[in-house]
Amino acid sequence: MKRRTFIQTGAAAFAASLIVKPSSSRAADTNKQYVFGFSQVTTVEPWRVEFNKQMLKEAAKHPNLKLIISDGQDQTAKQVSDVESFIQQAVDVLLISPKESAGLTGVVLKAIDAKIPVIVLDRNVNTDKYTSFIGGDNVVIGRAAGDYTVKLLGGSGAAKGNVVELWGGMGTAPAQDRHKGFDEVVSKESGIKSLLKPIDCDWKQQKGYDAMTTALKSFDKIDLVYGHNDPIAYGAYLAAKDAGREKEIKFLGIDGLPDLGVTWVARGELTATFVYPTPGAEGIRQGLKIMAGEKVEHNITLPTQTIDKSNAEQILKEAGIS
Ligand code: FRU
Repeated sequence: MKRRTFIQTGAAAFAASLIVKPSSSRAADTNKQYVFGFSQVTTVEPWRVEFNKQMLKEAAKHPNLKLIISDGQDQTAKQVSDVESFIQQAVDVLLISPKESAGLTGVVLKAIDAKIPVIVLDRNVNTDKYTSFIGGDNVVIGRAAGDYTVKLLGGSGAAKGNVVELWGGMGTAPAQDRHKGFDEVVSKESGIKSLLKPIDCDWKQQKGYDAMTTALKSFDKIDLVYGHNDPIAYGAYLAAKDAGREKEIKFLGIDGLPDLGVTWVARGELTATFVYPTPGAEGIRQGLKIMAGEKVEHNITLPTQTIDKSNAEQILKEAGIS
């Protein structure tokens, strides 16, 4: 048999896998034990760590629920085999946050054919046959970043400046949508110039750093960097700092985790970030609704929020960080 790598560490994970007395939740037949399999794309990025943490915390409230999380190690092939294995185990609900859309669509369809309810989280697949999709609206977030950019560069109709956009993974819906929303707004401003051809930073800080290092060498005047997530924006900031040019450039990111994006905004390294909530806890709640025979929404959109100098400190305080 093939070896599988599952993560179930820490107290919360342990509690999540305990099967004790019937839960007081609405989770259908409380004498029945449910097994949810969650295929997570990676566990190295901080946003993913928070995602799993929230999910395990929610699952731990339900003693009759066992949550198994697999780590796709940021590779499509690994994630496909993780999902195959959940199908073989006949989990009650499959949750998946895919590396990319195209490569994971086939195996998601396979799970649906096997009559397993599928909840897709954050990054989408190329089918809408799943039971539910839960995530932020990345077009809306992109537009918010676009509006913020226009404001920073002089306001509607008068905005002027050179912009570098650093993409997340180009084969993912969040990157496409974050571009789309942003472009919808800034392309209306004739004074705003986009300097680079789309460049794939695969959501990674190091790639943001490298792409920005090249951009700094090619362009004498860069006014604003729009990173598709906070790590990319921060990588770009570090590159500008190493080139002694960070003070002339504004940096915008997305995610808004207190200990990363919000902290960078509070320190004045990023100008703003836009919250992209982790969908794990909601995924558990919807999965239990499915088990209870309740109807769930086909699309559940999580809200965003703009974080800049005006509210960063307050958010850190509320998170117990500053
Ligand atoms: C983490 C991450 C987040 C980003 C999301 C998009 O893996 O890169 O930073 O917002 O995925 O799917």
